[in-house]
This record gives sequence, C-alpha cells and structure tokens, in this order.
Amino acid sequence: MKFDKKLYGGDFEYYASSKPKLKFEDFFKLKNNHMFFSSGSNALSFVFRNEKLKNKKILIPNYCCWSTILPIIKENNCNIDFYKVNDDFSLEIPKKAYADAIIIINFFGINDYNKIGLEIRKKNPDICIILDNVQALFELQNNGANGKWANWQIYSFRKFLASPGGGLALNIKKSFKLRKAVSTNYDNIWKKASNLKKSFLEGEIKIKEESYLKAFRNSSNLLRNNIKTNISKLSFEQINRQELNIISYRRKKNYKFLYKNLKKFSEKRFNLFELKNKKTPLFFPIILKNSYREKCLNELKLKNLFCAVHWPLINFKFKIKLPKFNDNIISIPIDQRYGEQDMLKILKILKETL
Ligand SMILES: Cc1ncc(COP(=O)(O)O)c(C=O)c1O
Repeated sequence: MKFDKKLYGGDFEYYASSKPKLKFEDFFKLKNNHMFFSSGSNALSFVFRNEKLKNKKILIPNYCCWSTILPIIKENNCNIDFYKVNDDFSLEIPKKAYADAIIIINFFGINDYNKIGLEIRKKNPDICIILDNVQALFELQNNGANGKWANWQIYSFRKFLASPGGGLALNIKKSFKLRKAVSTNYDNIWKKASNLKKSFLEGEIKIKEESYLKAFRNSSNLLRNNIKTNISKLSFEQINRQELNIISYRRKKNYKFLYKNLKKFSEKRFNLFELKNKKTPLFFPIILKNSYREKCLNELKLKNLFCAVHWPLINFKFKIKLPKFNDNIISIPIDQRYGEQDMLKILKILKETL
C-alpha cells in the first residue's frame, strides 16, 4: 500500500514538467549580456577574475553566505572591510569607506535595494558593485533591469528550481557568447537523489530518508569541488523545463498567506517582513525574539517542517560584530511545491511550536 508522506522544505524532488511556454532566456528577456556557470559561487569567482580584484579592497556585509564569499576573498588575497546589515535587512554603508568593489546581497529576495544601490553609484562612480541576486532569481526579469546600477549581478538556480546546479553572471555593458553545457558527475547523482526523494514522498516504504539525503550531499559536494565552470547539461535542461511564471506566482502567494496569517500571532514571538511589491521570495524569514533557535528547529523537524538557517558560521575566524539576528533567524519554505492547504499546515505547525 502506498501513502503520501508530506515533508516541507529540503532539496527539490525531481519533477520533469511539461514543455513550458517560454524557455529560461526568453522568459527573462536576456540579451547576451550573461554567461552561464556551474554555480553561483563560480559566477562570483569569474567576476573577481574579470574585474582583476586580486589584492584589492572589498566591502562586504556582516551577514552573508560565508562559505561562498570567504574562499573567493582568500583566493584573491583581498583586503576586506565589513558594513552593517540591520535587522530589517537594510544596509548601513559607511560614508567614508573606500573600496575597489562592494558586494550587495539581495537577502531572501523580499526587498528592493535600488535606492541604496543608486546612492552608492552616485557617491562612488568608479566602484565595482556586485549585486548578489542568488536569493532573488526573479530580479533577472528584463535582462536584470532592476539592478542597472550594479556592474555585475550574479544568480544561482538550485535555490529556486529543481536543478543540480547552475549559476549566471550578468553585466549589461558586456556581451558574451553562449558556452555549451557540459557533462558532469553530479548530474546523475542529483537525479538519483531527487527521484529517491520523490518515491519516498509517494510512500515507497523501501526507501530510507538517509539514502536521498546522502545522495543530495554527494551531488552538492561534487558541484562545489568541480573544476568545470560551465553549467551542467541537466541543470540547463531543468531551468528550461519549468514554468517560471507559475513558480513566481506560487512563491508570492504562499509568502503573502503566511504574512497575513502570522502577523498578529507573531508579535511577542518573532519578527516577520512584508514582501515588497513585485518581488519573488526565496523563503519566508523570521527572526525569533528569544535565542532558542536550535530547540525550535528540532521541534519543527519532528513535525516534518524543515527550515534552513541562513547562514551557518563554519570555520568562522573573523573578529567582527555579526548582526544580533544572526543566531535567531529561520527560513521557512514557501516554494512552488506548496499550495494553500500546505500553507495552512505550516501555519498550524508554526503556531503550535513557536
Ligand atoms: C547569497 C549567496 N550567494 C552565493 C551563493 C552561492 O551559490 P551556489 O550554491 O550556486 O554556489 C549562495 C549559496 O547559498 C548564497 O546564499
């Protein structure tokens, strides 16, 4: 007998959708100012090489994806300074700071950074602004028109779409030739992992959770260590197979549903954030008012709600002031796999647990 097992969050199970109306590059109206990469990290690495940022001074936020940025900074022997991220994800860029480049992260894809971006550009016409839109895939709309003030925009696909990897760097002042997608060892492992997860969710009792988790970890480690910088064949296939307008619609709808229904409840327990107009979110972030994140995460996991932490501090040796919310933030899944019934369940779990 089969039964559906409902889990919320975690890696995407494999689903090859029917042919979408528009392919990836047509949907986003790209104009050859972009180059595909194996991952967001590889796209960022390319930008550092292209801009010759070796030994240069870089300004980075005190809240970021350390496992991506620090190896690139180290490899390029950059001198870094940090700027502060406030607990509403707004930025405090020091007026007098000098740097050759600055990294702006579009946190969770929920805000608009145009005002601050334009201010930085006005004050520092020569600074290289790198807009990290890895958490805001849909900012790629109209050839990245929203981030015109940035020299570079970088993106990653596996956060938003069922794909083993894939990244993109965009610079509206340059044009690039399309590079061929390449065969990789992680494509098949990812496909196996996501198929296993799909069967597990469909109630295939022979499949153990650990088997697909292990395969996803393997695929992700191989992607991270891979030396080919081109996008993989399966990633390219996958990004061209998904109805991007439906993905954006569902994410927005789920986010707004949770926001509306948690607003009153959350007051004493956690902070939440309104989705800015026309933005497509990655997750629904909340900042707990008390420091009991590990306990909460474990309790949510027991109820099959898997929330991510952005971002864990692995081997972190800097003596900098991290934002207070760094230890209290949780990312709740609101992605395209879920509809209103799922959001009702998630709402119930959150209300019972937090
Ligand atoms: C803000 C940010 N930038 C870049 C990356 C790197 O992207 P990828 O995993 O595709 O290398 C991540 C990954 O989590 C991220 O969160």
